[in-house]
Amino acid sequence: MSSVPAIKLPSIFLLLLLLFSIHFTSIHSWKKEEFRPCNEAPFCKRTRSRKPHTTTFTVSNLSALDGKLKARLHQNSESGSQDSVPIRPLLLELSVYRGGIMRLKIDEDYNLRPDSLKEKTRFQVQDVLLQDLDDMRVWIPKVERSKDPSFSTFYIKHGFEAVVKHNPFEIFVRTTAGDRVLSINSHGLFDFEQLREKKEEETWEERFRSHTDTRPNGPQSISFDVSFYGANFVYGIPQHASTSLPLQSTIGPGVDHSEPYRLFNLDVFEYLHESPFGIYGSIPFMVAHGRKRSSGFFWLNAAEMQIDVLAEGWDGQTHSEEHEKRIDTVWMSEAGIVDAFFFVGPEPKEVLRQYTSVTGTQAMPPQFAMGYHQCRWNYRDEADVYGVDAGFDDHDIPYDVLWLDIEHTDGKRYFTWDKASFPNPVEMQNNLTAKGRQMVTIVDPHIKRDESFSLHKEFTQKGYYTKDASGKDFDGWCWPGSSSYPDMLNPEIREWWEDKFSLKNYVGSTPSLYIWNDMNEPSVFNGPELTMPRDLVHYGGVEHREMHNLYGFYFQMASSNGLLKRGDGKIRPFVLTRAFFAGSQRYGAMWTGDNTADWDHLKASVPMVLTIGLTGFAFSGADIGGFFGNPGAELLVRWYQLGSFYPFFRAHAHHDSSRREPWLFGERNTALIREAIHVRYSLLPYYYTLFREASVNGSPVMRPLWYEFPSDTETFTKSESFMIGNSILVQGIYIQGQKTVSVYLPGGQSWYDLRSGVTFSGGMSHDLKVSEDNIPSFQKAGTIIPKKERFRRSSTQMVDDPYTLVIALNDTLCAEGEIYIDDGKSFEYEQGAYIHSYFLFSNGILSSTNIIPTHPSKFSFNRLIERIVLLGIPSESKRILIESARHDLDMGVGPLTLRTGSNPVAFVIKKPNVSIGDDWSLRIL
Ligand code: GLC
Repeated sequence: MSSVPAIKLPSIFLLLLLLFSIHFTSIHSWKKEEFRPCNEAPFCKRTRSRKPHTTTFTVSNLSALDGKLKARLHQNSESGSQDSVPIRPLLLELSVYRGGIMRLKIDEDYNLRPDSLKEKTRFQVQDVLLQDLDDMRVWIPKVERSKDPSFSTFYIKHGFEAVVKHNPFEIFVRTTAGDRVLSINSHGLFDFEQLREKKEEETWEERFRSHTDTRPNGPQSISFDVSFYGANFVYGIPQHASTSLPLQSTIGPGVDHSEPYRLFNLDVFEYLHESPFGIYGSIPFMVAHGRKRSSGFFWLNAAEMQIDVLAEGWDGQTHSEEHEKRIDTVWMSEAGIVDAFFFVGPEPKEVLRQYTSVTGTQAMPPQFAMGYHQCRWNYRDEADVYGVDAGFDDHDIPYDVLWLDIEHTDGKRYFTWDKASFPNPVEMQNNLTAKGRQMVTIVDPHIKRDESFSLHKEFTQKGYYTKDASGKDFDGWCWPGSSSYPDMLNPEIREWWEDKFSLKNYVGSTPSLYIWNDMNEPSVFNGPELTMPRDLVHYGGVEHREMHNLYGFYFQMASSNGLLKRGDGKIRPFVLTRAFFAGSQRYGAMWTGDNTADWDHLKASVPMVLTIGLTGFAFSGADIGGFFGNPGAELLVRWYQLGSFYPFFRAHAHHDSSRREPWLFGERNTALIREAIHVRYSLLPYYYTLFREASVNGSPVMRPLWYEFPSDTETFTKSESFMIGNSILVQGIYIQGQKTVSVYLPGGQSWYDLRSGVTFSGGMSHDLKVSEDNIPSFQKAGTIIPKKERFRRSSTQMVDDPYTLVIALNDTLCAEGEIYIDDGKSFEYEQGAYIHSYFLFSNGILSSTNIIPTHPSKFSFNRLIERIVLLGIPSESKRILIESARHDLDMGVGPLTLRTGSNPVAFVIKKPNVSIGDDWSLRIL
């Protein structure tokens, strides 16, 4: 490491000691005391101890204005606890958006503030909601007063209406048949701390460990209760580590002692696999699900948030009847405003469509990014890179991307190369590109404070760093030592940062270089809870506390826009992020950070990835093998078998762990890992189609079982198995040496083992023998999956390969499926340059029909289908006929190339001589 001029020697020593103790001693145990629990955060402690209906409010002056409803919220004079400060009337605004969305905003009325406080506005999150959201707004012409004058109603969507109860203030959404769906403040826990003048005897400072938060604006927290009706479980609000997909109750009868779910982006070393503490990212969006309906609630607020899930009976009531089912939650945030969205569902898919119509859908990734990624901290030098790259070829294992961690830089100065280890980065990338492979380098937000580093000089001169409470550039400690952090809230700085990714500015980069954003919570080793102090100041006088959870969002946004600019807006970016917020799905992929090489973390990875997917972020995965520690061969193989189904499929390891490239564990294990990676590569056409779906309507690629089988109560708690799209069900193996596993297969149809084609009945659990060769996975009867089965060095080299269709027939001998194809890299699909075909097998005829609206497609792509696999043909069908509906095809009628091969239950039709993307039909049975 080179000089760190700004710091005197003793402090360097102390900081090094601190760094050492944080990173190299504590990595072997999560340090609970590093993180602030609820009872040490006054806003959280206070809310948790409040009794329902202590402070009540009345809605007054409700009227329709500009198609929205506006009103005032008055605290009832007789209400409030003795020590609480009376709340000045608040402004309330309600609006409705197309598709079943209601929005509620509550903020202070700045006109009622004392003059001394007029300047400081509360922070409203910008840039997360889609810019054209207002086009979706539905005009509310007027409010309907109900017969009972204490209520007003308005329509949200056909079949749903909202009711404002004036006194005490409550809003609920219900079906027009009268069933409640969602509500706010039904339990009278709404509270709003307004900015006020400090009393003489008061101190606003807060201390945590050795840190003091000056809190210049004093208390400003907000809290309220939200109820989900008809819900058996709630899900979402990532990011937390857990082996359970449903959120657990955090307070109330039967809950021993639990923290609320915390949303506060933090770099948590060796996070536990089971904890409500917040880790790297935050999405304040909760999905509720029950047999009859799903609904969702999203609070657009980027300050520290804590959420309690109240155990049934917390209010002395039980909801034993199905129709009484309800889950109550309490939401608290340290700052900001109420800007909340209610999504009426009622199907899970609708909830996701509603949420992503507000925050955006998953960015369509470039095709290569769906392949396998090989990462390690660190591939030491070019020889190492070439060695690993050749290892894949020597062992006949495909991969698409090789990653370089922080050590590739010159002393952790991002956008530079360590000249001794990486003297020819361009040549290195070009050599990978020649095999259709790409490279990713890491760019973190901490900028080394080194006068000889031009980036630091530029930042300093332009005044682009985040400022500390005294107005100086904030100086924190991270990988490079003394570091400062770009003020990512400032659009001008983001724009300037974007240019750093140009080929000219990022010397040594090529168009096949993509980006990894890490440590963007942001991680500050010597900061409170290892992040930025809350009283730092951003653009526009915004305190860090108000926008903390957004820092990583903006950082990834700027990187992604940088890559976009680099490619003249024509090439899809790929940026992986560790920190995230609602809306981050628009800028790339995320991963679950520094997990551990143990079986529990393997197990937790599934609910973690599912939860992220349920909150709009479809492109996610966990480090295969576990970041910390050394997985044994069995764990590593199981992790590959499971991870090959994650939407984002990357192996990664800490530098202290032993090397673990796929071929280092003996021939047998190499073969098993190769097989797992082959499974993924064979399914790439299916994954690509699913990513397209995610980018259109927000449906996750990896889905909870209940997402596909919403009325099957058995699925609601399944945390160990999952769906890939609507067709594949996967069950992980999470126990060493496990011999049998019970797998629940939902629905009224049967399932086919993905490899053997053997049939299993749906709607029941099966005790299956566990094989070391693979983990249980099944194709749902009634589906058609497009595949490619020739394995090459990388996905880009498979582009011209022919396709296989696997048709899993249901009881009525029908099946359907889809394929989406485009050029895999550009945005031309936005202009109609794609193929989107619908496959239907019915009455013995398999047809392919283009469903693209601008057919014929602007995308010319003609690749053959080389194989059609039919599962579930009744054994009495002795003869299979093939007739083509196209006269120009020389199909004739039989004789068929029909092969049952080693698989007695699958019929394979070889060379059916039809093309993907064409419209055709084949009479098969
Ligand atoms: C963080 C990342 C990890 C990376 C390391 C060094 O711990 O989470 O993936 O390898 O930093 O950059």
